[in-house]
Amino acid sequence: MRVLGIETSCDETGVALYDSEQGLLGDALYSQVKMHAEYGGVVPELASRDHVRKLIPLIRQVMQQTELRLSDLDAIAYTAGPGLIGALMVGASTGRALALGLGIPAVAVHHMEGHLLAPMLEETPPQFPFVALLVSGGHTQLVEVKGIGQYTLLGESLDDAAGEAFDKAAKMLGLDYPGGPLIAKLAQQGDRQRFTFPRPMTDRPGLDFSFSGLKTFTLNTANAHRDEAGQIDPQTRADIAAAFEEAVVDTLAIKCRRALQQTGFRQLVIAGGVSANARLREKLAEVVRKERSKLFYARPAFCTDNGAMIAYAGCQRLLAGQHADLTILARPRWPMESLPPL
Ligand code: KG4
Ligand code: ZN
Repeated sequence: MRVLGIETSCDETGVALYDSEQGLLGDALYSQVKMHAEYGGVVPELASRDHVRKLIPLIRQVMQQTELRLSDLDAIAYTAGPGLIGALMVGASTGRALALGLGIPAVAVHHMEGHLLAPMLEETPPQFPFVALLVSGGHTQLVEVKGIGQYTLLGESLDDAAGEAFDKAAKMLGLDYPGGPLIAKLAQQGDRQRFTFPRPMTDRPGLDFSFSGLKTFTLNTANAHRDEAGQIDPQTRADIAAAFEEAVVDTLAIKCRRALQQTGFRQLVIAGGVSANARLREKLAEVVRKERSKLFYARPAFCTDNGAMIAYAGCQRLLAGQHADLTILARPRWPMESLPPL
């Protein structure tokens, strides 16, 4: 089965073609980050308009890349939520209309399920059951995964998502949006020992997270080191970035270890934009070694938003006989646990 995947939930237009027999045939991505960087974050209306401009050309690009015709497609998978409603509507209406025109089924994919299953596109995919840490710009969740659509939420952030915390801390240090990769880069030059930031909610049982206090701690530390012109010397900036990254990564690692112990599962999957973070991967490699478990993640390009994960997730549901009706489905909020099992 050949499935065209369409992702437009936030600031990346992603298109990919996945074949259940041959694997990923092609993919293309257009990132709007440059446009949004000027505003320090995603401007929803600009995001929607840019998806309108880029989606059809990207679909054409993937079809050319794979040397296939639209008539070779068996189904369309589009991201139906969660995300920005206007942005979602672009992919949902295009995907639904394309499927209707071609007389093939369309499937409405949950964005976080897409992220969760992205490591399945790699050479050594995880096997069910596993613990998943979903860390993106909008979500921080620990999930017990027994199969596709068999999700039990073990814990989540009570306030900011990990990616969001990275983005906000970056802003405080004068870095562009999205801040995650830039903090990570700056942190490489920092002294990880100079400042010790708190590891929120690790001193009590449970698997929930909270990152808003860490944000305030970062702001206070930064402000305490500003000169009269409001500048922070480059080494101190790097040291703050390192302390911040260390605190977030450590907190995530402590909770992942707990989740492995609690479930007794031996596989840990990390997914979403923050799972591209090298320091997080390093720390979790240590955790799984201690827990005699294995760590799985997607290649960096498939950690952040992309069409391949949507095509893959949609394909699995289609193979199980699931697809959407003619409704153009777009849901800004959509709990992943409400998804039906395969
Ligand atoms: O999954 P994603 O592309 O979009 C959402 O579904 O939200 O995640 C984007 C988030 C942003 O907050 C970005 O700063 C963060 O992932 N991110 C990173 C890294 N790469 C992306 N955070 C830390 N380290 C990275 N290397
Ligand atoms: Zn995402």
